[in-house]
Amino acid sequence: MAVIADRCPHVDVTVVDINERRIAAWQGDSLPIYEPGLLDVVRRARGRNLFFSTDIEAGIRGADIIFVSVNTPTKTFGEGAGRAADLQYWEKTARQILASATSDKIVVEKSTLPVRTAEAMDRILNSNDRGLHFEVLSNPEFLAEGTAVEDLEQPDRVLIGSRETPAGGRARRAVADLYAAWVPRERILESNVWSAELSKLTANAFLAQRISSINSISALCEATEADVDEVAYAIGADSRIGPRFLKSGVGFGGSCFRKDILNLVYISQSYGLDEVARYWEGVVRMNEWQEARFVRRMLATMFNTVAGKRIALFGFAFKANTGDTREAPALAVTRHLLAEHADVVITDPEALENARLDTAGLDGRLTFEADPYAAARGAHAVAVLTEWDAYRTLDYGRILASMERPAFLFDGRNILDHAKLFEMGFNVYPVGKRAMSHV
Ligand code: UGA
Repeated sequence: MAVIADRCPHVDVTVVDINERRIAAWQGDSLPIYEPGLLDVVRRARGRNLFFSTDIEAGIRGADIIFVSVNTPTKTFGEGAGRAADLQYWEKTARQILASATSDKIVVEKSTLPVRTAEAMDRILNSNDRGLHFEVLSNPEFLAEGTAVEDLEQPDRVLIGSRETPAGGRARRAVADLYAAWVPRERILESNVWSAELSKLTANAFLAQRISSINSISALCEATEADVDEVAYAIGADSRIGPRFLKSGVGFGGSCFRKDILNLVYISQSYGLDEVARYWEGVVRMNEWQEARFVRRMLATMFNTVAGKRIALFGFAFKANTGDTREAPALAVTRHLLAEHADVVITDPEALENARLDTAGLDGRLTFEADPYAAARGAHAVAVLTEWDAYRTLDYGRILASMERPAFLFDGRNILDHAKLFEMGFNVYPVGKRAMSHV
C-alpha cells in the first residue's frame, strides 16, 4: 500500500488495523517490519496521501477499493487441521465490510487464499438487502521478504482476477489502472478470479519444488563424487530451466511455501485428486527430510553422539536480511539436536528475539548469544543455517582457536570457503559436496 501511495499521488491510501501498537509504529520511524528501502517510501507518502488509522469503520466507509490482507494461517483445529487455511479472519473482515459500507466497493483479496475463497466472499458480501454491490477481485502478491520494495517497484508481473462479467471487467480495470502508474501494461495480467487464486499457490509450489528437487540431488551428490553447485550451474545454464532458485541447503523456510503447498494439497484432496495431492505433498516431505538429514549427518560425523556437546547454530532466520523465523529450518535442526541432548547455542544478527519465542516450549539446554564468536567458544561444531553475509567474513581462525577438537563446521547454506577452512584445520561438511575431514 505504501508503494501504491508513493507511485499514485492522486490516490488516497488509508491503512487500517485493529492493532494500535502497530498503527502507531507505522506513524514513526521504527516500522513494525524491516524491509530495505521501505522507510524512504513511507516517508515520501506519509501524511500526503498515505495514512494509518485504527478507525476501520471510517476506512471502509471512505474507500472505493478495499485491499484485504489479513492473516490466513494453516488451520490448527478441526477439519483440514495442519493443511487447510484458517479463514476466520477473512470472513470476519468480509462481515465488517458489509456492516460498515454505505456504498458499492471493489474488494481485493491480497492475502493468499484457497481457490474459490472469492466466491464465498462474494456470497457473504452480496447477500445484503441494502442494494449495495461488491465486486470481489483476486490480486495475489508475489514479493519476497527482504526484497519487498524492489519486487513491488519492478514486478515480473501483476495479476488481477475478476468475474467475467461487465462489472467484473470494470473493477479489474480500475485496479489495473492503479498499477499502470508505474508497471508497464504488458506486465499487468488479467484473468478470471480462480486462475488468479490458483496461480499464487502454484507459483509458490513450483518455486519450492525447485528447491526440494535440488535438495534431493544434494543427497545423491554426497553419496557420489558430484558437487551440487556444479550440477545446479550446469542444469541452470539450460534456458528452459534457468539458474535461479537452485541453491541447495538445509531446506526452505518462510511463512509461505509450506502453508501454500499444504493448501494446494488440501484443495486437491477435497476434489478427490489424491495423486495430485501426493505429488505436491512430496515437495514438503522432501524438505522435512532434508532438515532431518542435515542433523543425521552431523550426528554420524561427530561419532554418533552429540549428547552434552556444545553446538553453535549460525543463523536462525529463514533466510538472510530478515528477522523472520517462521518455518525456519533452524527450528527443525534445533529440535532434532535437543532430542539428541546437544547443548545448543543460537546466534543471529536480527532474529534472536523471534528465536527465543519459537523455542520457548522446547526442553533441553538452549542458550542465545548475539555475538557469533561467543556462541562458538567451547563448541564442538558450528552449523551455518542462514546465509547472512556477516558469516562469510568472520575471523574463522579466531573461531577455530576457541573451539573443542576435532572442530566441525557444517555449512547448511554452502556460503563459506570450504577449502580454506579445511586448510585452517576445520573438518568441513557442506551440503551436497564432498566432506573435507582431517579425522
Ligand atoms: C516466497 C516467494 O519467493 C514469493 O514470490 C512469494 O510472494 C512469497 O513467498 C509469498 O507467498 O508471500 P519468501 O518466503 O519471502 O517468498 O522467501 P524466498 O526468497 O522465496 O525464500 C524461501 C526459502 O527458500 C528460504 O528459506 C530460502 O533460504 C530458501 N531458498 C531459496 C533455498 O533454499 N534455495 C534457493 O535457491 C532459494
